[in-house]
Amino acid sequence: MKFRSNDTHSSSGKGPVKMAQIFHILVNIFILTFRLADGQNSLDENSVDPDLLLRIDQMLEKHGYPVEIHEISTKDGYLLTLFRVPHGKNDTEVNPKPILMMHGLAGTAYNFVFTEYFNVSMAGYFADRGYDVWLGNTRGTTYGRKHIHLDPNKTKFWKFSWHEIGLYDLSSIVDYILNVTRRNNLYYVGHSQGGTIFYVLTSLRPEYQKKFAQVSLMAPGGLMGHFNNSLMLSLSKRHKMLYKMAENANLFEIPPPWMSLSEFTYKICIGTIMQSFCEAVFFIINGRSEDIDVKLFPMLLNTLTSVATMQLLHYAQNIDSVKFRQWDYGTEKNIEVYGLPEPPDYPVENIKIPVTIYYGYGDTVAFAGDQEDMCRRLRNCTKYMMPNPKWNHLDFLLSKNMEKELFEPLMEYMETFKIS
Ligand SMILES: *[C@@H]1O[C@H](CO)[C@@H](O)[C@H](O)[C@H]1NC(C)=O
Ligand SMILES: *[C@@H]1O[C@H](CO)[C@@H](O)[C@H](O)[C@H]1NC(C)=O
Ligand SMILES: *[C@@H]1O[C@H](CO)[C@@H](O)[C@H](O)[C@H]1NC(C)=O
Ligand SMILES: *[C@@H]1O[C@H](CO)[C@@H](O)[C@H](O)[C@H]1NC(C)=O
Ligand SMILES: *[C@@H]1O[C@H](CO)[C@@H](O)[C@H](O)[C@H]1NC(C)=O
Ligand SMILES: *[C@@H]1O[C@H](CO)[C@@H](O)[C@H](O)[C@H]1NC(C)=O
Repeated sequence: MKFRSNDTHSSSGKGPVKMAQIFHILVNIFILTFRLADGQNSLDENSVDPDLLLRIDQMLEKHGYPVEIHEISTKDGYLLTLFRVPHGKNDTEVNPKPILMMHGLAGTAYNFVFTEYFNVSMAGYFADRGYDVWLGNTRGTTYGRKHIHLDPNKTKFWKFSWHEIGLYDLSSIVDYILNVTRRNNLYYVGHSQGGTIFYVLTSLRPEYQKKFAQVSLMAPGGLMGHFNNSLMLSLSKRHKMLYKMAENANLFEIPPPWMSLSEFTYKICIGTIMQSFCEAVFFIINGRSEDIDVKLFPMLLNTLTSVATMQLLHYAQNIDSVKFRQWDYGTEKNIEVYGLPEPPDYPVENIKIPVTIYYGYGDTVAFAGDQEDMCRRLRNCTKYMMPNPKWNHLDFLLSKNMEKELFEPLMEYMETFKIS
């Protein structure tokens, strides 16, 4: 067993004070930049095709798809909006095969609609081929910033990680869809955190497994032992200190509620001299890909959404522990909550239903080696390495070649499993 109490000890020395100051300065620079951008209003709206800024329902309708909007409540009171594309362009009847698509961190249902701009999106592709497409949104996103009594501008609303999203949001969304469609199970596609929440729900509540006919996870977040970005690694090591800082600053929503992330990035990056700089930063973070059309960049930024600090720190804990496990409260509280000094692993070996993991060799967030390790732990897992060796984390949402390289093989394999 690995005890990390030493880290905590050493991090009460000089290091964290310096880190806290640096953090403070960075936050201030950030705020200043935002204010400046706000005042100067550097955005030249005319330089951006308005189609890139449509709402998700407007985008789908403009391209000939029907859209329904559903609001559901989770067991713990969060109100989430689901978008449904019940059939394709040329049909009038609801399609027979329900499929749920769940987005990743800082994303929304829009992730599966981006490339509709080029007339080919995952939502549209499946709707045109017999699927009743449901696009979910998790708590805290643009379409999940609501609660029956908690105020989203207050800290209490934001005390969740993807653990709660898996247990409460995903279960409620699946139950709702099965009730509306009168089916026993559905197809599932999850990108990144959309895979994490599937692992959380079906490992801790195995009775949910029968509600999935087949599961396609694209670059799912789970094991993170191959993570090798040195900045992120060193931040991850300091997750306890970062949590304390968040508590002190009362910063549980990132970015804070007074600052809309999409507005911020948008003002800084789009139609300004900063645009190529922003694109460069984006490619450094994501890895370069020839298959991503930078034309979609404004749309990507415009649809970014807030995340809970705990979502990020829960991943940081997993990077640091090299395990896929529940939230680490620190030894004392862990004993109280779990009866163990360290948090328990998610028992993914309980997952017996067929899962396919689609992954890219160029992915620097969800590493190929971690996907292969996870696949070995699941009971009925198939791996599909994307043939393009440069395929990365966001190619699943933005690649120009996704119809041929992703949708076709994914649907072909999915079709070998039947809905009941
Ligand atoms: C819908 O119908 C039009 C006109 O018949 C046809 O060109 C188009 O390919 C059809 N689209 C789909 C997705 O079936
Ligand atoms: C998308 O389809 C529309 C209507 O068929 C067409 O006018 C437009 O040029 C297409 N856009 C692209 C990028 O192919
Ligand atoms: C299922 O849907 C019906 C309406 O179609 C509704 O009355 C009922 O409360 C729903 N049940 C659950 C468990 O959501
Ligand atoms: C991280 O891993 C990737 C993929 O294995 C590799 O290409 C890259 O060089 C590594 N980066 C560092 C900093 O080690
Ligand atoms: C939260 O804050 C934003 C921006 O200050 C404001 O527009 C919004 O109405 C607030 N929401 C609630 C529920 O108070
Ligand atoms: C995996 O699932 C498929 C489809 O349900 C089934 O045919 C196969 O026997 C399963 N394999 C294992 C090892 O359980």
